[in-house]
Amino acid sequence: MSIPFFRYPHLFAQQRDEILAAMTAVMERGAFILQSDLVEFETALASFTGTLHALGVANGTDALIIALRAAEIGPGDEVIVPSHTYVASAASIHFAGATPVLVECGPDHMIDPGAAAAAVTARTRAIMPVQLNGRTCDMDAIQSIADRHELLVIEDAAQALGSRFKGRSAGSFGAAAEFSFYPAKILGCFGDGGGLTTNDPEMARKMALLRDHGRDENGTVVTWGLNSRLDNLHAAVLNVKFQQMDMEIARRRQIARLYREGLGSLEDIVLPPGPDDDPDHFDVYQNYEIESGRRDELRAALEKDGVRTIIQWAGKPVHQFEGLGFSDVRLPFTDQLFTRCFLLPMNTSLTDDEVGYICDRVRKFYGA
Ligand SMILES: Cc1ncc(COP(=O)(O)O)c(C=O)c1O
Repeated sequence: MSIPFFRYPHLFAQQRDEILAAMTAVMERGAFILQSDLVEFETALASFTGTLHALGVANGTDALIIALRAAEIGPGDEVIVPSHTYVASAASIHFAGATPVLVECGPDHMIDPGAAAAAVTARTRAIMPVQLNGRTCDMDAIQSIADRHELLVIEDAAQALGSRFKGRSAGSFGAAAEFSFYPAKILGCFGDGGGLTTNDPEMARKMALLRDHGRDENGTVVTWGLNSRLDNLHAAVLNVKFQQMDMEIARRRQIARLYREGLGSLEDIVLPPGPDDDPDHFDVYQNYEIESGRRDELRAALEKDGVRTIIQWAGKPVHQFEGLGFSDVRLPFTDQLFTRCFLLPMNTSLTDDEVGYICDRVRKFYGA
């Protein structure tokens, strides 16, 4: 068997006719920027996340920058963010003019609340929890640190649309939250796309200005802004794909169950929590990040057997990238995790047989 990490053509093949019809309709109407498909999408995103306001923007990174700027976070301010994240989380803080303060993750791979609390200084303005791999972190712990120190919470929920903590959706906590609709995301368009959610009408108003040249509904420029609108064509594609979200999530959770059945007994392997393990968490498995004490050997063996795996962020947490200025930052837990963690394929193009084959190959590697 040959199992790629991700099958991009599947994204189109899955709903070919509906997608072509939706895109054709947009192009025939000549409705390209800030049109009804975008409004429809924003309404659906707000309703799906249980928030009052949602906006489509050009990509997830811009969404984070816009959220930070709308919260008036900038030069002289610090924002606490885990190092186990895509560079975009830290980059957004940098481009808002503030300083990213990188902290450890915990055994669950999510921001370590103790480390976040210890990193608070007089300059800290916000915590940016990253809802990693399709799981919403313990938002009670994050919110209590924020309340104690009067900090804002800006959620990086790029990887977690549909996940919930204690019944509340990723994207509904804090001052504002960001989503990414990069093609490989649970809800992906055919290029870059991003979203913002908030329950605060003032944040929503400021973020809407920031994504469209600072223009109000009459076209008057009332402040400085960016050009960061989600294309109407992409919104139309996302509207089609949104109809399959429940199926998409259910299938990912089913694959997670199959991985647990196949790999749960291997002592050297640490798996993500199972879909039914903890009633506080509803996970959507954007990624399936596992740990192995023999990671590099295991990955090489899987590659030989036709199974393609990857390590997130090209193998390094943010603080390890030379050139970003974090050479003084010491995060031993995250460093250790990055000698062990990697992603098995997790997407809805996988068949049960393929998941079975992957489990079989991993077990064979361990002689089980
Ligand atoms: C955790 C995380 N944050 C932020 C982003 C940025 O999103 P985008 O690629 O849409 O700019 C991503 C996307 O890959 C992500 O995974």
